[in-house]
Amino acid sequence: MTTNLNWWKGGIIYQIYPRSFMDANGDGVGDLAGITSKLDYVASLGVDAIWLSPIFTSPMKDFGYDVSDYRDIDPMFGSLADFKTLIDRSHELGLKVMIDQVISHSADVHPWFEESRQDKTNPKADWYVWADPKPDGSPPNNWLSIFGGSAWKWDSRRLQYYLHNFLESQPDFNFHNPDVRQAHLDNMRFWLELGVDGFRLDTVNFYFHSEGLEDNPPVPVGEPKTMGAPHDNPYTYQRHVYDLSRPENLEFLKDMRAMMDEFPGSTTVGEIGDDFPLKRMAEYTSGGDKLHMAYTFDFLNKPHTPDYIRDVLKNMQEIVGDGWPCWALSNHDVVRSRTRWGADEDPEAYPLIALALILSLRGSVCLYQGEELGLPEADVPFERIQDPYGIPLWPVFKGRDGCRTPMVWDNSEQGGFSTVEPWLPVDAHHLPLSVAEQEANPEALLHKVRQLIHWRQQQPALVNGELSQLDVGNAQLIGLVREYQGTRLLVVLNMTSDTQQATVNSGLVEVDGHGFTSTLEGQTLTLPAYQAFYARLS
Ligand code: NOJ
Repeated sequence: MTTNLNWWKGGIIYQIYPRSFMDANGDGVGDLAGITSKLDYVASLGVDAIWLSPIFTSPMKDFGYDVSDYRDIDPMFGSLADFKTLIDRSHELGLKVMIDQVISHSADVHPWFEESRQDKTNPKADWYVWADPKPDGSPPNNWLSIFGGSAWKWDSRRLQYYLHNFLESQPDFNFHNPDVRQAHLDNMRFWLELGVDGFRLDTVNFYFHSEGLEDNPPVPVGEPKTMGAPHDNPYTYQRHVYDLSRPENLEFLKDMRAMMDEFPGSTTVGEIGDDFPLKRMAEYTSGGDKLHMAYTFDFLNKPHTPDYIRDVLKNMQEIVGDGWPCWALSNHDVVRSRTRWGADEDPEAYPLIALALILSLRGSVCLYQGEELGLPEADVPFERIQDPYGIPLWPVFKGRDGCRTPMVWDNSEQGGFSTVEPWLPVDAHHLPLSVAEQEANPEALLHKVRQLIHWRQQQPALVNGELSQLDVGNAQLIGLVREYQGTRLLVVLNMTSDTQQATVNSGLVEVDGHGFTSTLEGQTLTLPAYQAFYARLS
């Protein structure tokens, strides 16, 4: 077990979607015992930590992102004892354990909400965001739910509306109430005391709303819709000035950090959905007194052209400063990156160079289950769709099921995931890419990913170094310098499908072991399609 308290800085976090990782009890849904049985595999990748999407008691309307008991495990996944076993085994293998905290909203069947909705005077009356209708009976303002329609739902008991940024069954907590804030901190402490090492904080900038309930303004004509939601979703038409990213949140995050600091080596990574995410990341992660890291959507939203990558890095440097990003190419909410950006590219080389990119940046990295196998988005027929976000926006937006289908461990009928038909179908196209198939083939992507990760973990400049961009005289190439304790590492990445060349200074000491095949002859650097080059600079 590493004793480095800053393991998360530059660390690699493997995201597990528990419903779809491994089904040990044969009910078609993944579980904790299943995850524990596969931890050796995860550790073999060379990652530092696992992040488990929610495992708590839930009606599962949003597949666990709707919690009805913050201190227990949903029986579908197992028990607290199973979770303790998972933590212990992870720690034996040198893996940290991070769990998802979904505290901006609860499930509507949470006892707190059931009490809150009874009347306007009960002890939990002010724990959620309640508001009277306008005189004409319509909702209090124009706020929208990301999942479609108004963010307000009428409640016939209280004769008031309640706020929900996501499903109607996910009522929003009122963080202006100090008891709510304290209850959440106490629940987080419960998990830290049980042995978890950190939290992924769901929608961390949605905790507070403006108590004035002002209407959000529309995105001004001619200005881009910057909110990270599908553009066919009217949620992107507004500037979210009053319903999220409120200044009070910073004070709460400081209280949270003070509690986290009582558990040395623990960490947080916040998910920020905002009109101006980098600005928010800077606010939330700089100064060392709020979040440790914030998740960035930059490589989830747009194609990875060299110009775009340069822009992202420039903005990151200018805006985020000493803040700390956590990069990702995929997660459980977006189309798998192989399909999103690599569909027309080489199916093995593209995922590897994309991973090399984020492993070469200043920041931490999240790797989503199956990314190491290069899985494409699964095709889920409409009648098997489960995601409540996908059903109303079908067919333009098909929801998030295509990236949530079961992990493929072997090429048997259910991919070795389960002995029965799983909750989402295994895509037949995934079977030849299963772990067992790839383990048996020394040329497979899985081995290259493993090699690259293990190599990167041995490069202090890549894990911890400062980053500057370098113009290598060829606009198709990304040039970076990472510098740590006097060692300067040159990184050149060819994200294109053509061979690229650059002229570099003499005196470079090539670093190998990463598995890429670029060549340096004299001062001429040749990078075949999708290849990287690393060298020490004197
Ligand atoms: C973000 C999560 O990643 C997503 O899966 C969930 O639906 C929403 N937050 C609501 O909790």
